[in-house]
Amino acid sequence: MQATIAVLPGDGIGVDVTAEAVKVLKTVAETYGHQFSYPSGLVGGVAIDETGTALPPESLDLCRASDAILLGAVGGPKWDDPRAAVRPEQGLLALRKELGLYANLRPVKLYDCLIDASTLKPEIVRGVDLIVVRELTGGLYFGQPSKRFDGPNGREAVDTMAYSEREVERVVQVACDLARNRRKKVTSVDKQNVLSTSRLWREVATEVAQRNPDITVEHLLVDNCAMQLIKRPAEFDVLVTENTFGDILTDEASMLAGSMGMLPSASLGAGKRGLYEPIHGSAPRHAGKNVANPIATILSAAMLLRYSLGLSAEADAVEAAVQRTLDDGYRTYDIQSPGTTLVGTREMGDLIAARIARS
Ligand code: IPM
Ligand code: MG
Repeated sequence: MQATIAVLPGDGIGVDVTAEAVKVLKTVAETYGHQFSYPSGLVGGVAIDETGTALPPESLDLCRASDAILLGAVGGPKWDDPRAAVRPEQGLLALRKELGLYANLRPVKLYDCLIDASTLKPEIVRGVDLIVVRELTGGLYFGQPSKRFDGPNGREAVDTMAYSEREVERVVQVACDLARNRRKKVTSVDKQNVLSTSRLWREVATEVAQRNPDITVEHLLVDNCAMQLIKRPAEFDVLVTENTFGDILTDEASMLAGSMGMLPSASLGAGKRGLYEPIHGSAPRHAGKNVANPIATILSAAMLLRYSLGLSAEADAVEAAVQRTLDDGYRTYDIQSPGTTLVGTREMGDLIAARIARS
């Protein structure tokens, strides 16, 4: 098949890790006889430096003209001035919003051989295999008003958490559809004892649950969920929650899999076009040093093959190659443990690419 994959490396280690994911995609294309092209675009801090805006129109056009988008990471101390008018993160948020990518899938799967990489006890994390569906185009990230102003008591600021029935409905339905091919359990996470948006969320989630009688839907308050995630993580199957809660809970959940460097994500909307990125940030101090773990981005490329291109055998091959590389004892610094072989970003990419095979 022919496909255009827009590559937006962004800032910091985003550059290092996307290069390895492209390396793996090239190997997949060769092995399976596909023609992929990889036009690249600017986003984030580099885009601000070169064009003055975090998502130049050419980048958005490129993404719209592509079958899928692979993104690295955005941000860094250089652009962190709290009074700056433009911020790298705006580029990522604009991309998610403009492309209507409302469902962010963040699978958290512990590879058995990484059980010692987790900071949690082995008996607690063994068997963790969950997926968080984070609502991505609503909530605090986009609600209006969102601004700073001068009030009678000095400087003030406001952000708004807003949700509509439709926004909740469609993302909870995505969670139910995912659960159908898994363990048929959805945990909807909210803060309904305090927030109006959460009371709406729970009401609508309950209605969606009634239309999906084969799925068991439970509700948890977000603070309780944060605790249960480290108390009994293996019991969770699919979690669905609003934008900010999902952002926070997935950083927490990443430690169940050993490292932020292991967690991929897919951002999907109504069509097939999706945005694929690791959940980690740009880690500026590791940028360009050949140390970052590229596995989260390589696994994001596997999700790209599966969800946007419909190439599930190829996606399985990438995931199997990651599994074999880890089983063979290779580790980047973040998942290293005694008796394993420490490798850099490029070596990890090479090792995984070399294990891509047609099944
Ligand atoms: C993430 C990141 C982003 C977010 C930042 C970089 C804007 O933390 O994808 O989880 O908050 O969504
Ligand atoms: Mg985050």
